Amino acid sequence: MARNFPPDFLWGAAASAYQTEGATETDGRGPSVWDTYAKVPGNIVNGDTADISCDHYHRYPEDVALMRGLGVKAFRLSTAWPRIFPEGKGQVNQLGVDFYDRLIDLMLHEGIEPWICLHHWDMPVPIEEAGGWRSRETAKIFGDYAAEVIRRFGDRVKRFAPINEPNVIPWVAYNLGRHAPGKQNYDACLQAIHNLNLAHGKTVSAVRAEAPDAEIGNIVSLGPVRPHYDDAAHEEARVFGDCMWRRVMVDPLWLGTYPDPIAEKIEPLIKPGDMEEISQKLDFFGLNHYNPVFVAPNPNATLGYSEVMPPSGMGPLTDVNWLVDPDAFLEQIRDTSNRYGKPVIYITENGASYPDMLRSDRTVIDNDRIRYFDRYLGALLDAIDEGHDVRGYFAWSLMDNFEWGRGYSKRFGLVYVDYPTLQRIPKASYHWLKGVIEDNAL
Ligand code: NOJ
Repeated sequence: MARNFPPDFLWGAAASAYQTEGATETDGRGPSVWDTYAKVPGNIVNGDTADISCDHYHRYPEDVALMRGLGVKAFRLSTAWPRIFPEGKGQVNQLGVDFYDRLIDLMLHEGIEPWICLHHWDMPVPIEEAGGWRSRETAKIFGDYAAEVIRRFGDRVKRFAPINEPNVIPWVAYNLGRHAPGKQNYDACLQAIHNLNLAHGKTVSAVRAEAPDAEIGNIVSLGPVRPHYDDAAHEEARVFGDCMWRRVMVDPLWLGTYPDPIAEKIEPLIKPGDMEEISQKLDFFGLNHYNPVFVAPNPNATLGYSEVMPPSGMGPLTDVNWLVDPDAFLEQIRDTSNRYGKPVIYITENGASYPDMLRSDRTVIDNDRIRYFDRYLGALLDAIDEGHDVRGYFAWSLMDNFEWGRGYSKRFGLVYVDYPTLQRIPKASYHWLKGVIEDNAL
């Protein structure tokens, strides 16, 4: 029997600037840390770069048509900090602003609400060179960038989020060195945590000052943290991983405190007024969820622990070795809802990578992805039935794009991108999700 979503449930899709736009040297955009990181041999699978990517910068009208065809009422994009401020601060690049003006106006014309995330990891190089997230000054500069974007677009954009998945930056970039800026350093992990939280707080202040009728929420990637193996060392890894992955970028925002066992290490970095700025009231909780996270001790990780493959035999894996486990999604929604005082929750990302094949008739039959969405949307409905306030769902991603260190080797899109020609080909999952959205039912 069909299961209905609430009548005003918000259907959306998501993508980010660096992963889709390309045009990295066009119209005055400055270099970002990911441009330089991607040019270092060995950092990205197959030596891929995002210089062209999906060329969304030039092909955005086609992409907005695809959003419309899918039937989504909202689309989550990010503004590229180095497009707005090529130096990271100082002089605004009007041509960069113009691009987002065109994109936003077209989306609104097509009845699609733009949700803007101000930072999806593409930090301007000069800001990184001055210390990046290790420097407290970056939080202030970020606040100024955020205020500028909100001033420019806040007349039309009513939902903002400061930083996409800030928990990935200390955990993956500084702990494992596997994301830009690719530096493993214990102190940098701690500094990045607090400075990212401060940058979040400054953005909340900017929204309240510049666009009082707009909403602001955080966007974080969360999943239950599980030990890879059942012993004391792995249990220790679980406790620490839970703190570092799930709590350290969320508790300060929603509860006003840092979690143990990291709190005492961060304490010396906190200045008077910081926690008040960080914990200002938010309008929604943006939850990205993909999978439960398995952890183990790892002597090569700065913090001594890292994420590892799920133990074998637990169930199907996606193409990036993430366990398909819709119960973990339900568990995560419950945890978020109960721990943070029943906030309004939007699922700001969810989706799966599979090795899609473009067939000779130019179709892509991605039944595994359909099954994934079907099961995860079912878990989401269970969460709503339990009384958790989940108001919307953004599929990741509208189209295949630059999957960070994995380059173009992994595909998450509802639309297949044929990179040699840049042709967009809606996959079977696109047509399936369109039907779900039309019926507002599973
Ligand atoms: C979360 C990130 O926000 C996004 O950039 C990435 O592509 C997806 N996860 C899939 O890994």
